[in-house]
Amino acid sequence: MTATTDMPVAPWKSLFLEHISKLDDPYMAVSTVGYDPKTESPVPRVRTCGFRGFFGELQLHPSAEQQLRDEKELNPSLYESDMLTFTTDVRMRKVEELQQFDAVEVLFWVKEVMAQWRLRGKAFVIGDEQGKLGEKTARAEISKGLRVRSNDAAESPKWYWNKEVTAYFANHSPLMRGSFKGPAPGRPLSEKPEDPNLSLGQRVKDLHDATARKHFRVVVIRVEEVDRLDLTDPEKGMRWRTTLNNNSKQWEEVELWP
Ligand SMILES: Cc1cc2nc3c(=O)[nH]c(=O)nc-3n(C[C@H](O)[C@H](O)[C@H](O)COP(=O)(O)O)c2cc1C
Repeated sequence: MTATTDMPVAPWKSLFLEHISKLDDPYMAVSTVGYDPKTESPVPRVRTCGFRGFFGELQLHPSAEQQLRDEKELNPSLYESDMLTFTTDVRMRKVEELQQFDAVEVLFWVKEVMAQWRLRGKAFVIGDEQGKLGEKTARAEISKGLRVRSNDAAESPKWYWNKEVTAYFANHSPLMRGSFKGPAPGRPLSEKPEDPNLSLGQRVKDLHDATARKHFRVVVIRVEEVDRLDLTDPEKGMRWRTTLNNNSKQWEEVELWP
């Protein structure tokens, strides 16, 4: 696998992490571009999702780490990145929307430090174990944002995409894993699932449960622009826009009128 090694660490990352650490449970608003067939026009869509850290740097719960270790599914800590992640169900609308328009913006409001973070970029969806073309393309795009963590990477055990997705799955509780075996999200309640494996409230221990894993996906956001608003001083808001220059691979920051 090829990974970019010369990408500098994003200059906004450490402050972002410091701010996010103030939140008990970091949730973000995730906006995508949808399409309204009635008016034949693009429409905004937004929903809450749990922030799952930066790709390659997943913080595992001790029980998840143990299960992955026991099942020989634990990847080496080979990579780091500035790409945000969340998990989702392939049957949800946002996945279809992201496959049509990969543009995404996520928003965090951290009242504890009076900061609003808006991170914009492109989102890529991985986790299709059949490894169809879309999966290959998404992995290749994500690779462009990966940095090798250590100098002795050549001696490290091999890192696998499937194991990384499995780690995200393992990091969910059995009940959350079971949500990927629920009836199709967003469909009318009157539509009873034909598949008897699909029902609410299941608890899944098996990391490779075929039905749950068929639906489970990890979304990886390659950030291109960050808009940060600091409202600490009510008389003088401060705002910055930090943009990744795709040619130089350098981040450029401009202070803005709030
Ligand atoms: C606190 C909270 C956390 C949520 N976390 C996620 C999440 O991590 N991933 C996800 O796909 N949906 C999550 N949801 C559900 C979404 O907000 C949304 O209802 C669902 O994903 C369907 O959205 P869609 O039809 O636009 O795809 C969460 C909802 C709440 C209220």
